[in-house]
Amino acid sequence: MIAARLLRGLSRDHTDGDQKPMRTHYCGELNASHEGREVVLCGWVQRRRDHGGVIFIDLRDREGLVQVVFDPDRAEMFALAEQVRSEFVLRIQGRVRPRPEGTLNPELPTGAIEVLGLDLEILNRAETPPIQLDTHAADASEELRLRYRYLDLRRSEMQERLRTRARVTRTLRRFLDEQGFLDIETPILTKSTPEGARDYLVPSRTHPGEFFALPQSPQLFKQLLMMSGLDRYYQIARCFRDEDLRADRQPEFTQLDIEASFIEEEDIMGLMEGMIRALFREVLEVELPEFPRMTHAEAMRRFGSDRPDLRVPLELVDVADLMGEVDFKVFSGPAQDPEGRVVALRLPRGGELTRKEIDGYTQFVAIYGAKGLAYIKVNEWSAKGREGLQSPILKFLPDAAVEGIMARTGAEDGDLVFFGADKASVVNEALGALRVRLGQDRGLMAEGWRPLWVIDFPMFEHDANSGRWVALHHPFTAPKEDQLDLLDANPGACLSRAYDMVLNGTEIGGGSIRIHREAVQRQVFRLLNISEEQADERFGFLLRALKFGCPPHGGIAFGLDRLVMLMTGAHSIRDVMAFPKTQSAACPLTDAPSEVDEAQLRELALRTRPRS
Ligand code: AMO
Ligand code: AMP
Repeated sequence: MIAARLLRGLSRDHTDGDQKPMRTHYCGELNASHEGREVVLCGWVQRRRDHGGVIFIDLRDREGLVQVVFDPDRAEMFALAEQVRSEFVLRIQGRVRPRPEGTLNPELPTGAIEVLGLDLEILNRAETPPIQLDTHAADASEELRLRYRYLDLRRSEMQERLRTRARVTRTLRRFLDEQGFLDIETPILTKSTPEGARDYLVPSRTHPGEFFALPQSPQLFKQLLMMSGLDRYYQIARCFRDEDLRADRQPEFTQLDIEASFIEEEDIMGLMEGMIRALFREVLEVELPEFPRMTHAEAMRRFGSDRPDLRVPLELVDVADLMGEVDFKVFSGPAQDPEGRVVALRLPRGGELTRKEIDGYTQFVAIYGAKGLAYIKVNEWSAKGREGLQSPILKFLPDAAVEGIMARTGAEDGDLVFFGADKASVVNEALGALRVRLGQDRGLMAEGWRPLWVIDFPMFEHDANSGRWVALHHPFTAPKEDQLDLLDANPGACLSRAYDMVLNGTEIGGGSIRIHREAVQRQVFRLLNISEEQADERFGFLLRALKFGCPPHGGIAFGLDRLVMLMTGAHSIRDVMAFPKTQSAACPLTDAPSEVDEAQLRELALRTRPRS
């Protein structure tokens, strides 16, 4: 066991005199092979129980729990043991012995033995912990767990996650090192790198009125490293994004960031697939299935999402062509709108859904902007045809439309078919989310891991609010070589050389082949409505560097927190970070962010003003 070796390495040589080491073993590593041995343990009190004159203490350290027994015949020690409370820090000398017949605990790795206490030292006392550290701890409010994070992290569940995280980074580093990637750090105080979020700014004292931006990613620096001839770079990098938070988003998160020169999509995708496969093998002993490739267009069409969860066997089916002429505006409107979409989603055995459940799903899709959720219950289509269907919208649908829907969805007796009709973006979001929700609620989710690559992303997306093109990935992503002329002619149709790795419905990584020619980079900035002057002011260093011999290059970044969240089965990335922030981007432990002294503001030439 690594832990035991580690401790032996740490303990001093005690041949001179009888002074005992601070500790000899971890609590959790003791087993029957230690029977008869004298040990010195250090740890926290998980629980103390008085059993008719005998005191039991469950002592806990990083490696687990062990039961220590104190007999009343050592009166002084026994009196001390009586004072002990939860979370006291103890040092215990004792002898390992088998547990008496009938008291073995097969649930506990140390459950075959116990330690007879020979000496007890209270190293520190503890107030009653504000959160329980047993199995009910997760019931405490997250605010409380974060305020007392050092207590929350004592729980074995949390320790296990951080341990897995350390194994993940160790495995990834080793893999990349073996593949010739150099670990290179890039600045935290820097200039804005646009990844689609707001920047965190840091005022400069030496340049009053000027600001650094914390990096949203090391994107431009890793490209500069390729221009520097370093050929293969990686970094476990902290990124900062001021955006609306969700379960899988934090303002400060970690990327495994990678870049390489003289490569194409296939090179990097092949290498990264190998890396993730090796990671799962090493850490979880899981052999991942093949990574299918799916175009962005196909993912949106079949799943309404660019990160489809392939564990759910439900698919969206387009029916707009059947609805153009129906006497139901809700369907015919979007069916005739070039930006509209009308889809059907078949739920096998969905006929069981109650009115209340359907109302619940209608409310669920409303979160995504859907104005309703039409449905058809397929009671007895096989025997009765249209008479065997039940639906509030049936009266609007001519036979041809009904037959088309039934044929295309493959719906059978007992099923239910949902419909979404709206702008394509709304339908995709709403029905895409409904698909996953139904998969979870109805037990349709396949076990295991379903990775894939999503490829052939559009270069740009049209933002209806601003009326402008925005980069779907980031502005440094290269367009497909054979589509360069589309850049100006039809930007919306131009595809990029980007790729995302998706696992079980989560985007765990994304990257692209980059623009390595100045003229193309300037052209893309222009399309994004960034003027020549703005481009020179914000990205002048990049444009200049592109003039001095930039190699073709590309890369990817993985969301390390998301990856570990999936691998540990945690529900939020906050559960795999030692000190995360709350949903409102604050830290209850340190009370950050906080106000600063007037003197500090003066030094920075700043004045706060009331929130408008
Ligand atoms: P992107 O913005 O797609 O690409 O980020 C890469 C990966 O980082 C994770 N991620 C996050 N994780 C937690 N909290 C967040 N707020 C957050 N935002 C993103 C996701 C995502 O797939 N520079 C490019 C990469 C490249 O082109 O090489 C970039 O940052 O898992
Ligand atoms: P209404 O005519 O508003 O009573 O709607 C009739 C049915 O169509 C109801 O079941 C609504 O939930 C559904 N519906 C309304 N708008 C939409 C929409 N945009 N997409 C799908 N179904 C809708």
